[in-house]
Amino acid sequence: MIVGIAADHGGFELKQIIKDYLGELNHEVVDFGAFELDKLDDYPDFIIPLSEAVAKGTAERGIAICGSGVGAAIVSNKIAGVRSSLITDHFSAHQGVEDDNMNLICLGGRITGFAVAKELVKAFLEAKYSGGEKYQRRLDKIEALEKR
Ligand code: RB5
Repeated sequence: MIVGIAADHGGFELKQIIKDYLGELNHEVVDFGAFELDKLDDYPDFIIPLSEAVAKGTAERGIAICGSGVGAAIVSNKIAGVRSSLITDHFSAHQGVEDDNMNLICLGGRITGFAVAKELVKAFLEAKYSGGEKYQRRLDKIEALEKR
């Protein structure tokens, strides 16, 4: 799978850990930065290009990391076609894909430990959207909202 990843300074260390892990899982990784640790950088500068790639499909899934994961979730969901959430538990990591077709996961580099973050990413990437009628009906309503 082609997986995009991006982080600001708050997620810089976790991004490298997750990038290495994605390589171990044989995924193709597209890194949208940050490429150096700059405590004054701004998460939208990295997470908007990542989100656009996910919306266009040039990245099949996305992983956005900031300090808390909150800013990453706010900005990524502004891009039409992105369905993202801040994820801190295993159930939501896969159920968000199965029911809500989540295509981008947000993590808090200062909140979630490295080992747990890897498990969340694995659960997210292994999950598939069920396409169930009631789930699609809900997503259609969100898509209609994006077109307003
Ligand atoms: C940066 O210090 C921090 O505010 C940012 O990484 C993130 O946590 C925002 O939600």
